[in-house]
Amino acid sequence: MCGIVGYIGSKQAYPVIIKGLKRLEYRGYDSAGIALLNGDMNVFKKAGKVSDLETVVDEARTHATIGIGHTRWATHGEPNDRNAHPHISHSGSLAIIHNGIIENYAAIKELLISRGYIFHSDTDTEVLVNLIEEVQKKENTSLDNAVRIALNQVVGAYAIVVLNKSNPNQLIAARKGSPLVIGIGEDEFFIASDASPIIEYTKNVVYLDEQEYAVINRDGNYQIRTLGNVEKSPEIKKLEFTIETIEKGGFEHFMLKEIYEQPKAIEDSLRGRMNAAQGWIKLGGINEYINRIANAERFIVTACGTSWHSGLIGEYMIEDLARIPVEVEYASEFRYRNPIITEHDVVIAISQSGETADTLAAINLAKERQALIYGICNVIGSSIARVSHAGSYTHAGPEIGVASTKAFSTQVSLITLIALRMAEAKGTISTSKMREILYELENIPRKIEETLQLDAQIKEIAAIYKNATNFLYLGRGYNFPVALEGALKLKEISYIHAEGYPAAEMKHGPIALIDENMPVVFLATNKSAYEKIVSNVQEVKARKGKIIAVVTKGDTQIRELADHIIEVPETEEILSPLITIVPLQLLAYHIAIMRGCNVDQPRNLAKSVTVE
Ligand code: G6P
Repeated sequence: MCGIVGYIGSKQAYPVIIKGLKRLEYRGYDSAGIALLNGDMNVFKKAGKVSDLETVVDEARTHATIGIGHTRWATHGEPNDRNAHPHISHSGSLAIIHNGIIENYAAIKELLISRGYIFHSDTDTEVLVNLIEEVQKKENTSLDNAVRIALNQVVGAYAIVVLNKSNPNQLIAARKGSPLVIGIGEDEFFIASDASPIIEYTKNVVYLDEQEYAVINRDGNYQIRTLGNVEKSPEIKKLEFTIETIEKGGFEHFMLKEIYEQPKAIEDSLRGRMNAAQGWIKLGGINEYINRIANAERFIVTACGTSWHSGLIGEYMIEDLARIPVEVEYASEFRYRNPIITEHDVVIAISQSGETADTLAAINLAKERQALIYGICNVIGSSIARVSHAGSYTHAGPEIGVASTKAFSTQVSLITLIALRMAEAKGTISTSKMREILYELENIPRKIEETLQLDAQIKEIAAIYKNATNFLYLGRGYNFPVALEGALKLKEISYIHAEGYPAAEMKHGPIALIDENMPVVFLATNKSAYEKIVSNVQEVKARKGKIIAVVTKGDTQIRELADHIIEVPETEEILSPLITIVPLQLLAYHIAIMRGCNVDQPRNLAKSVTVE
């Protein structure tokens, strides 16, 4: 979490950095700050959003062509002005911005205090900038060498940029465990946590690799070295997305835009990877490993949050179609519980950002134990994509709303192809069944378009329940993970307590919660177990719960029982999550808006969680 931006060149740095920070606010918005160098080191910081920072900046002191800025998701220390970045070294000569955590900060801080350093914040970052200063003083060396030596002494994760008052022609950046991209312009450089602050100025970027640092000079020269001091030749990549994809495009919020983008995102995700008429699936990223993957004794899916819910759908699909046993693990649990992993396992890591620290750590553990790692990521060039042996990008385009929507549907679409490809390789699916599913998958974007037309009706339902204090979401089979995801969407952005549950498990606990104040969202499109879900609906009705049912068009039985019916187009049961999630995303969105919540930047959350 935390977003960082640096600029050096001939432009005014302040507007470039502020705009960049606004693009990175999805990474955290507890506080923001900026340091600009124009003879003096001008530092402005403020708790709250980047727009709050702008209110305290003295424009007269912003004239500078070099600077750094930060938007924070708090780890060490309260999110107040004092703890906001940039942090300044004891002598006042260095300023630093940092995304990550320095784990051994306490011991270093103690040592520095004993050497006379005074601290003004509770952050681990202030410790790091003073350590760099101390190393530079003690070793009497260049700043970049001091940064390298200091970073070799710290334990933890970081992406940092250092600004030096006595050298207005240089920025130093380094990374370990947190992402960092350098934009290469004409005699100017941009540094950022992702490419979104860079895209409007240049398409040429260098992704800094793990344990590398960059020395970037105003004269156009830059060098990249490892923290072990080995020079690397930078690989310049071309950004593929455009500025339009990271703007709201007429929608009021990114989340709504991204919900509406799902048909296109799924098409982009499937493009060139399947052909229903000819009955083929091509997943370039796995060709080299197809035998090992199809012959795996077991798949372990590891992920967090929404991506974990896609993984659960993947478990149902892969077991159903390819008959390979699958386990789905929260990455944070998996890595700490000494799991059994062998070289016969395939670990599928799912991550929109490709940077989630727990997921990254889980796959590093699995890699050590010789499993094959298959990464499913959205962000191109992200850490998880890079450490995986094989992988496929979801191609959903940038997802900016903190609550994940199109990333989820593209993950599920892609996992469908993977499950079918495995089934084909294992001979567990007939050609006709495979074509049937592929035809239906091709139809999904159109059916989502149709479902999006229910928006006005869903808004009316939202208005009725916007003041509820609890919500229950129930589903069976493929719709159970959708119930979890629907509940997650609601709690993330509206702060209403919501639980997702397997519909049949309701009677083992949650049924005690049901009374006339409890809205219960049923996902009841299943063909199999339909009668069973009707019984569950009856059980809720008997206890006066308010029933909102998502059903297949033409359904008659549940209509009789439910207070509200949301009719969605019919589809193959395994593809139903791609349709049934849409009304739940819209319901959460409208409720949150009606409650006055900031849907794109919900409190306490961040989109990319790069701390454990
Ligand atoms: C955070 C986000 C969620 C996301 C989860 C996993 O909690 O707020 O929306 O699902 O991280 O992120 P990933 O990038 O790994 O999919």
